[in-house]
Amino acid sequence: MQRENFTSRFGVLMAMAGSAIGLGNMWRFPYMVGEYGGAAFIIIYILCVFLLSLPILLCEFIIGRRSQKNAFGAFKKLAPGTAWKWAGLISLVAPLIIVSYYSVIGGWSIEYFFKACTFGFTDYVTHEELNTMFNDLVSSVWIPIFGHTFFLLITALIVMGGVKGGIERFGKIMMPILFVVVVLIAVRAMTLDGASEGIAYLFKPDFSKLNAEVCAAALGQSFFSLSLGCGTMLTYASYVNKSENIAKSSVSIAVSDLIFALIAGCAIMPAVFAFGLNPQEGPGLVFKTLPFIFSQMPLGSLVAILFFMALLIAALTSSISLFEVGVAYLVEEKGMNRKKSCMLIFMITWITGIFCSLSFGPLSDFKIIGNTIFDFFDKLSANFLMTIGSFIVVMFAGWKMKKSDVMDEFTNGGTIKGNVKSFNFIWFLIRWVAPLTIILIFLSNLFL
Ligand code: TRP
Repeated sequence: MQRENFTSRFGVLMAMAGSAIGLGNMWRFPYMVGEYGGAAFIIIYILCVFLLSLPILLCEFIIGRRSQKNAFGAFKKLAPGTAWKWAGLISLVAPLIIVSYYSVIGGWSIEYFFKACTFGFTDYVTHEELNTMFNDLVSSVWIPIFGHTFFLLITALIVMGGVKGGIERFGKIMMPILFVVVVLIAVRAMTLDGASEGIAYLFKPDFSKLNAEVCAAALGQSFFSLSLGCGTMLTYASYVNKSENIAKSSVSIAVSDLIFALIAGCAIMPAVFAFGLNPQEGPGLVFKTLPFIFSQMPLGSLVAILFFMALLIAALTSSISLFEVGVAYLVEEKGMNRKKSCMLIFMITWITGIFCSLSFGPLSDFKIIGNTIFDFFDKLSANFLMTIGSFIVVMFAGWKMKKSDVMDEFTNGGTIKGNVKSFNFIWFLIRWVAPLTIILIFLSNLFL
């Protein structure tokens, strides 16, 4: 059977940027900036993106496109008969874990989107009332499970449509809409009275706030935001045409992801400051603080609808990429058809997701190593699986694959002159800088 490919350069970019741009940019990045001291965090984050995450993304590109296989089969094909075939194991587990909790937040976004559409935020005047509304929502049983189910169902249906007809098409339509919407919201936020303080918070660095924990957090965030270490980019890369310049594509993806995170910051922080609220609200920032702002500001109801629509689109384009990793595996390695694979992945993540959802309510006392199920899944994936997965990918490209093969893939057989010139620098980053830094973060996550 002919393997499906992405059909256009724009489609590849939108699908991969869609995977990268997600809750990580609109929900996680702004609250991390808040928690870790604003602009100083952003500067470290930018360094992490270009010196570390970008080379790892390139490795995923190289392995995926060279092998033309799913994230598990890729290692088997490129290093046949060796223990490397187990290297793909993480990509079988991690995406399932991430989807499980990701779709719970996706479900909340659906709830909030409907609330915004029915002008639900104007009734709640005080900040406390909105806090209570959020806490009541997440700790209840049925509504969040319903949201989670609905979110997962949309994800499964898109992936069922195939690489070209589902994933690529959805990304090509939705990503530009997402971009326009978020820019509109940022413009609205930055023209509020008192917005300048928020902008200063984002862009004026205070280096006294820097420490090892901030650096580790910035690194973890850059991995999460670029969807690294879980086979998502590797799987998508396997659908990329052989004539594509992968260095250029990776840079475009990393840059758009970064710009998007910054715009999301500009959509949120100025408004937080304009209304004298606390930027260090943590994970509740988007769901507790923002609705309050929307209820207070001129044109707020409209902005609320747009914002939660954007959050939902961003979450969907990412969750389809996580879903596709498992589906590609089942189709290519287990010979299942696409529809059945989607249903199987749906069932697994639906059940594990229900436990994640309940861990805010009836199961909140059930702890795994001191964490609720949701937090455990989040930490397990972000602090461990993604770091180990990234380590495996760079070690494979840097130490197992032949240098000439890596170079061949990176330069399209020597035809892209710019890539030939920069290869030695990239090779150094892949072989030395990336693995050593990953070991450092890993240790700091264990001990900090
Ligand atoms: N990058 C996405 C975000 O920022 C989330 C995501 C998609 C992801 N695929 C991933 C995270 C794979 C880790 C690994 O929201």
